[in-house]
Amino acid sequence: MTQPAATTTLPFRLAPLSAHTGAEITGIDLRQPVEAAARAALNQAFVDHAVLVFRDQTLAPGELLAAVRIFGEVFPQQNSRFALPECPLIHYLSNRDKFPDGRRYIPGEGYHTDHSNATAPPKATVLHAVSLPDRGGDTQFVNMQLAYAELPAALKARIDGRQAIHVYQSRHSARQLMALSEAARAQVPAAVIHPLVRTHPENGRRSIYINPIRIDDIVDMAEAEALALLNELITHAREPRFEYRHRWRPGDLVMWDNRSLLHKANGDYDMTQLRYLYRVMLQGDKPV
Ligand code: SIN
Repeated sequence: MTQPAATTTLPFRLAPLSAHTGAEITGIDLRQPVEAAARAALNQAFVDHAVLVFRDQTLAPGELLAAVRIFGEVFPQQNSRFALPECPLIHYLSNRDKFPDGRRYIPGEGYHTDHSNATAPPKATVLHAVSLPDRGGDTQFVNMQLAYAELPAALKARIDGRQAIHVYQSRHSARQLMALSEAARAQVPAAVIHPLVRTHPENGRRSIYINPIRIDDIVDMAEAEALALLNELITHAREPRFEYRHRWRPGDLVMWDNRSLLHKANGDYDMTQLRYLYRVMLQGDKPV
């Protein structure tokens, strides 16, 4: 007599958030241990959906650090001024920070992928909401695998095999980053070279890999041509058909795949209200 196949009941529910990007995960408390089958399923969901939104979490910094290890090892962030004193691998994002000249600093404005100026940039970034404005402050994501797949063939041919030079802050960046301390600067490479098209190490799909905040040059291309090409690529990527827009809810823990997405924060909310999130990143591979 044949035995029924063994089935594993996973301790969470998953619901896609758009046709191409994002999945909501409910029914799991990330403060509790997660067993091997569920860990594997969550890792697969991350590769498949690129954004995972865990609802109804309340993690203290140490619990967040433990939870993200389901997905990999922590990547040390470059600007240690945002580190939490009690748990320095966890940083914070806040709309209460100011530049030295007194202007408000909104972290993450303008489409980018995180820390692409590292030799092996982080595969994932995780944010956990601690305090949110009543409305606004969404995080927008664009799916760069889909954007690549939908590029005209002539544009694909122009970028395949090309490489770009990434630095801490590009001289072309419209966004000003918070300056690094001297000690932090010594830890960060002066410049790294990454392909303009990268292949995802886990799902094998190709994506446009650009970062308007960090790309200083395209190798062997004149500046004016490089800027025009980058502008053409970002204009294409920003088309609404490639976007998933995350509207934050209290208790959200959101993680995204920096290998296949660009993202940006929105400073469009009432600045008298605090927007404060914990932030941690996970180690990735050298883009190829
Ligand atoms: C970031 O770019 O890491 C921040 C995104 C956000 O605050 O929504």
